[in-house]
Amino acid sequence: MSRPQPPIAMLAELTHVCPLACPYCSNPMELTKKSDELDTATWARVFAQAADLGVLQLHLSGGEPAARRDLVELVKAARDAGLYTNLITSGVGLTEAKLTALDAAGLDHVQLSVQGITAALADRIGGYKGGFERKMHVAERIAEIGFPLTLNAVMHRHNLDDLPATIALAQRLGARRIEVACVQFHGWAEANRGQLQPTADQVHAAKATVEAERERLKGALVIDFVAPDWFSDFPKACMGGWGSTGLNITPAGDVLPCHAAESIPSLEFANITQASLSDIWYDDAAFNAFRGTDWMPPLCQSCDRRDIDFGGCRCQAMAIAGDAKATDPICRKSPDRAKVDALLNVAPSEAPFVYRGRV
Ligand code: SF4
Ligand code: FES
Repeated sequence: MSRPQPPIAMLAELTHVCPLACPYCSNPMELTKKSDELDTATWARVFAQAADLGVLQLHLSGGEPAARRDLVELVKAARDAGLYTNLITSGVGLTEAKLTALDAAGLDHVQLSVQGITAALADRIGGYKGGFERKMHVAERIAEIGFPLTLNAVMHRHNLDDLPATIALAQRLGARRIEVACVQFHGWAEANRGQLQPTADQVHAAKATVEAERERLKGALVIDFVAPDWFSDFPKACMGGWGSTGLNITPAGDVLPCHAAESIPSLEFANITQASLSDIWYDDAAFNAFRGTDWMPPLCQSCDRRDIDFGGCRCQAMAIAGDAKATDPICRKSPDRAKVDALLNVAPSEAPFVYRGRV
């Protein structure tokens, strides 16, 4: 296996604390306690190591990163290290004074999540009353300061029909980009599959909307759309291939090849307090577990899409086929594809959401 390229992007999950409790949260079911979070000096050291390794973009995420009292210091440390800084936030907890201080510290970009286009829906999904209104105030302040803004919308059965209005909201808030991602069934979302899974008709309609809106808004708004792959014949190249373009750091400092990697029980992850980021990226067993093609099942090894999708998503193979080394069950050639089709037939459930837990 040849030596991998350095990573381009790093996602720092600063904390699992969050005022919201979205039922599709990508955080693990077992959340990290505040007392186990990395401290300011350790994060600053990690940012410097990331820049030395070749990382260009730092995504500051959570939980809600604004729940960290030292957020401004962390942004400054990242900018001092030479990283492009992007804050991924629900907006709740970001005061006007904090935004001004983040601007002074050099924050480059803000990604604001929306849970719905009305207060009623957004607050129901986020499990936080008054969240939508506060978010709209924060969006106004973001526009006044002039941060480049991307709106993030996780979409599912309850809000996918609102896609045109969500795109209109992005424009109204002055966003330059909107990232629409259909819910991915890992962690908390998996516990809410019946409540969240959109219908095939909804997904097809959303694809048509995105195509038409991209044409209409060319030059004014960039629309990124991550469609679910469940209706496709082949999987996506998750993370651009395992351990090839980016890495995640958990609040406690474990270094992961993707956000859901902890769902693979056979892997153990190195902690940034015990090894350097460079050693982990190049030599850690978890990072090397699915690099290259040697790990692949014969089906993928002999396939002409082997270097296009890299066998798909390891976490999806784990979740659906029960084996992280299996061909991604989305693939029509996979012996496990019938399991995906069975999941697509899960009856829509009106049961209450299983909200993400609180730290
Ligand atoms: Fe991709 Fe493997 Fe399916 Fe080929 S067999 S399309 S490499 S998942
Ligand atoms: Fe982990 Fe796809 S989410 S490899």
